[in-house]
Amino acid sequence: MRIAPLALLVLTVAVSGVAAAQQVGDADAGIRVYKEFGACWDCHGWSGLGGLPHVGGDNDGMDVGPPLVSAKLDRAAMIEMVSCGRPDGFHPPFAVGAWTEARKCYGKTAKDLGEAQAPAAPPNRLTEGQIANVVAWVIDVLQGKSMTKANCLRYFGVAQSIVCDVFP
Ligand code: HEC
Repeated sequence: MRIAPLALLVLTVAVSGVAAAQQVGDADAGIRVYKEFGACWDCHGWSGLGGLPHVGGDNDGMDVGPPLVSAKLDRAAMIEMVSCGRPDGFHPPFAVGAWTEARKCYGKTAKDLGEAQAPAAPPNRLTEGQIANVVAWVIDVLQGKSMTKANCLRYFGVAQSIVCDVFP
């Protein structure tokens, strides 16, 4: 039957559409990933304004992350960035199995890149769910936004704080 390949293609597109929709995570669950499991704050700042250079030490300035408030990536691209880093970049590839056949990055494996170019292993691996959650936090609270008192209290998990009083 000649129509079969087309039907299969339509089915594949429909199924991957569902998968993409499921990747919208839970921002509140993402806070713990941002603070603990991924330590995103260490490089991007707790409020997403970017990291401060580490003065001294053997990785002087190397793990400074850019501000997330001005990130231009959409959700899918941000998930790939957090999961995989970028070839030759300093971003930890957080996804379990990143850059392997089981979890290709940008359609590639470490072998395709040449091992030297693939980002180094991260301190911690994150599940796809944890990555979706932390990306939800970044998109909902940081990207293109200014910090608010309510979101500051939410992040620190407290009812009040002089740190948060400076925000509107
Ligand atoms: C070791 C430091 C470090 C850690 C930890 C880190 N990042 Fe990054 N991040 C970077 C650097 C450096 C870049 C720029 C990378 C590049 O362009 O190759 C970046 C880029 C990004 C970008 C893309 C920004 C843009 O404008 O394109 C996003 C989104 C991001 N990181 C989110 C996260 C999240 C979420 C976490 C925690 C799960 C995290 N990062 C943990 C260092 C870090």
